[in-house]
Amino acid sequence: MARFTLPRDVYHGKGSLEALKTLKGKKAIVCVGGGSMKRFGFLDKAVGYLKEAGMEVALIEGIEPDPSVDTVMKGAKVMQEFQPDWIVAMGGGSPIDAAKAMWIKYEHPEVTFEQMCVVFGMPKLRNKAHFCAIPSTSGTATEVTAFSVITDNEKGIKYPLADFEITPDVAIVDPELAETMPKKLVAHTGMDALTHAIEAYVSTANCDFTDPLAIHAIRMVQANLVGSYNGDMAKRDSMHNAQCLAGMAFSNALLGIVHSMAHKTGAAFADYGAHIIHGAANAMYLPKVIAFNAKDPTALKRYGEIADFMGLGGESDEEKVQLLIKYIRGMNDQLNIPQCIQHYGADSYPTEQGFVPEDVFLARLPEVAKNAIADACTGSNPRQPSQEEMEKLLKCCYYDLDVDF
Ligand SMILES: NC(=O)c1ccc[n+]([C@@H]2O[C@H](COP(=O)([O-])OP(=O)(O)OC[C@H]3O[C@@H](n4cnc5c(N)ncnc54)[C@H](O)[C@@H]3O)[C@@H](O)[C@H]2O)c1
Ligand SMILES: [Zn+2]
Repeated sequence: MARFTLPRDVYHGKGSLEALKTLKGKKAIVCVGGGSMKRFGFLDKAVGYLKEAGMEVALIEGIEPDPSVDTVMKGAKVMQEFQPDWIVAMGGGSPIDAAKAMWIKYEHPEVTFEQMCVVFGMPKLRNKAHFCAIPSTSGTATEVTAFSVITDNEKGIKYPLADFEITPDVAIVDPELAETMPKKLVAHTGMDALTHAIEAYVSTANCDFTDPLAIHAIRMVQANLVGSYNGDMAKRDSMHNAQCLAGMAFSNALLGIVHSMAHKTGAAFADYGAHIIHGAANAMYLPKVIAFNAKDPTALKRYGEIADFMGLGGESDEEKVQLLIKYIRGMNDQLNIPQCIQHYGADSYPTEQGFVPEDVFLARLPEVAKNAIADACTGSNPRQPSQEEMEKLLKCCYYDLDVDF
């Protein structure tokens, strides 16, 4: 038996933030990140709408990018004191993911972070609160997904929490919030969305319900991402929907090892001055993983279908895969994203010598590869990599080598 779960309501289109007025309850807590929502006036608007709905409102502000276990635990305490019946998370993937994890701890104070990490093993929620998510970036689609990604800073590892319990009740996909994104964020989150859709389409858990969402999202990203990056606001609006469709697909079809590798490399070199930003990591690793997975006959055929839908040409499936890889690399170039870790600068832009030194990368490679294999996203990848293969794959991602194994 398979299950397909989405939020009950998805409000979308310009001005849909106003849907907050329709929420029924007594107390809402609004969770936001570092300040962009406040700066652009969306926080005030949201608080105003919730007050119009008759609710008392409290705030959790300052949730950092790639939120930590510590942030989650502190936020849950604030929720326990305030006792909200609505949790409204607004911003990028980071504050929304953090709020999801706070929700679990708020409803079940006894649950430890380790217990939260048990995939599809979460206790029942909604005894105390419902959850509304409002994305301001066009990538993670956490507003419709069963996932939350939390970073353990001590271990330098990102853990995906996964259960349909944390699929929000209400998503508000208002493109106005995404219009203020700086270019770099458009590029990274857009490539994250493309990776979600492609990984969902070839995942071993793909199905008739997820395929149309994934394939339509892929075409929309193809049609809109580069234009959005270059300032076309109509395309920016379309990307907000595209990423949400991709999220509906991958929340139910799951992901693959591009995400396993992005999760486990993201914070692994933080002591050298930076994170490898999630969307940029995906953008660099996706072409390598496509080449690796295409050795699996079913995946090969499905990548061929993607290339056909994108109108890339090619006769054989092998040829189509090559064209797909070339197309994605071309997008990276147009979006100013490097093709490999060696050229990934601390500011995320391409540079001759990136921030991850070669000797450090090689020294940490066995551990990073082991962690990537153990990531929750590996199980639904069409080809299961051995330790040796994962190390080779990561080396290809470091040096930008062709994957021929
Ligand atoms: N839960 C999921 O299903 C899922 C899926 C993919 C990724 N993730 C996780 O989500 C996180 C990344 O989220 P993200 O890419 O949305 O970025 P983010 O939330 O980390 O935000 C990045 C930066 O952009 C700023 N920002 C956000 N919206 C803005 C706007 N409209 N205008 C100007 N600035 C804005 C933020 O203040 C922040 O400084 C990672 O931790 C990643 O692992 C989760
Ligand atoms: Zn992602």
